[in-house]
Parts: sequence; structure tokens; C-alpha cells
Amino acid sequence: MDQSRFKQFMERIERGEKIEANDWMPDDYRRLLLRLIHMHAVSEIMGAYPEKEWVPKAPSLRRKLSLMAKVQDEIGHGQLLLRVAEDLAAPLGRGRDDLMEDVIVGRVKFHNVFHMEAPSWADAGIIGWLVDGAAIMTQTALLDCSYGPYARVLKRICAEESFHMQHGESIILALAEGTEAQRQMLQEALNRWWEALLFFFGPPEVTESARKMMEYRIRYRTNEELRQKFLTRYIPRIQSVGLTIPDSRLRFDEAQQRWMYTEPDWERLGRMVRENSGPKSQERIAFRRRAHTDQAWVREALIRARAQAAV
Ligand SMILES: [Fe+2]
Ligand SMILES: [Fe+2]
Repeated sequence: MDQSRFKQFMERIERGEKIEANDWMPDDYRRLLLRLIHMHAVSEIMGAYPEKEWVPKAPSLRRKLSLMAKVQDEIGHGQLLLRVAEDLAAPLGRGRDDLMEDVIVGRVKFHNVFHMEAPSWADAGIIGWLVDGAAIMTQTALLDCSYGPYARVLKRICAEESFHMQHGESIILALAEGTEAQRQMLQEALNRWWEALLFFFGPPEVTESARKMMEYRIRYRTNEELRQKFLTRYIPRIQSVGLTIPDSRLRFDEAQQRWMYTEPDWERLGRMVRENSGPKSQERIAFRRRAHTDQAWVREALIRARAQAAV
């Protein structure tokens, strides 16, 4: 029975049909998707923290409003994605609360970049410009995902991410045209983020789960393809504002048609994500835990109101 269902499922995938939440799906399809979307949702929420630190310290009202709008968008992305993840998790006996609690107890990973410090205003600019720029690369590559609810949510998210990238670019351009001290602050921020940005796309090897995700048309591109695309788009932009990329081995190899770069420290950065041992991991998880506890009454009130309305 399952074999014929599996065959029909794969035929749908190959025809380019979208799979919906209530459709039959193989168990590993569900689990791979859930892991991807859960980590994406949590990363959106944890991604709001480094920039949130800069809301009270933004240099002008215009910058503050723009940053607040971005932080609010990221939390909204997290909520949209949790809603998609919730449907996938329900048949496995897990609810939305479980998915959120996984962050607090360290059962789900979030992107390496959100474990890092953002000590200057230039870091807020680099996050918007390059971290969101990298996120656009990975997320637009998922727009054709075979799972309909994820593909639809990503369409909205990607539109907002391009606003985030422009917000970051505007901060960068102002600093790049500013004083010597501002340019220096910007260069130092780039030096701090470069390795983490390369790591963001993941190791170059195509793992078994990545291969499976490509077979299921959850994703179409390898980590290395996305990293190369990012480098092609952003290296000229970074250099055009007078910044130096902190990698003396960086060059474009004409014969191989690819960027050659110094490999990030996969082991150290991987451990940081697995063990939540980055410079800001524990502080931000503690913020999340406090927000989850302090706002429990709102969630309970909403559930109660919905139950009463149904009576
Ligand atoms: Fe986002
Ligand atoms: Fe964003």
C-alpha cells in the first residue's frame, strides 16, 4: 500500500505538483521538511536579537524606524514559518509550544550568524546588507520547493528580505562615505563577519540528507552553488564601497569558473552552533526564555478566548 502511495507521491513531485499539508507524504519527506522549516523559523526569531540591541542606540529617528520595522518583520517571518512547521509536526505528536521550547532547551539549532556579537553600528549595517543578502540567496533558491505551504510563505518573506538588504546597504553607504573613523568601523565589522558569512551556507560536501532533499525537490541547489552565487554578487559590491575582503587567497579561477577562498573553520563554527557556545548564544537564548515565560499569559488568553467563542 505504502509503496504504491510512494510511487504516486514521486510522480506528483516529478510533475512539479505542490504537496499540501493534508496530503499523504513519506515519513522522511515530512521529517526533512520539518527540520528545515523549524530551523528556519527559529533562526528568524533568534536573528532579531543582534539587531534589536541597536534599536535604542540607532543614530537617527529614520534609522531607528527602519531597524524596528526590520526586527518586527523577522519575528513575523518566524511566526509564519512556525505555522507551517506546526502542521508538519502535528502527526508526530508535537505542537507549536514544543517547537518553541526546543530553542530554549537547545534541541533545535539556529544559524551561526546569530550567535555572533554586533558591537558597533556598522555590524547592524553588515547584518542587513550581507546576512540578509545571504539569506535571500538561500531562500529564493527554495521558492520552487515541492511543499506548497513553505513555497507560498517564502514568497512573502523574500519580498521583505529585499527591503532588509536595502536598509543594510543604505547604512553601509552612509558609513562608507563618512569619516575615516566610520570607514574603519565598517572595515572592522566586515572582518568580524566574513568567516561567519562563508560558513552560513554550510559545508561544501553534499550530505545524504541534502541529496534526499534534492530528490524530493525540497531544494535544488547545493551549499557550494549558493555560496558561489553569493560571492559573485557581493564581492564586486563590497569592493566598490572601498572595503577590503579579509582573505588574501580570494580570487576567481577562470578555468574552474569559481571563487577560490580560505575555508572557514568548519569544526569551530559547527561546534558553536551544535553546542550554543558562540559569544552571544547563551545570552540570547536567555532573552528568548524570558520572553516565552513573560508572554505565556497572552498565549493562554488567546487559547481561552478561542475555546469560549467555539462554545
Ligand atoms: Fe527574515
Ligand atoms: Fe531579514
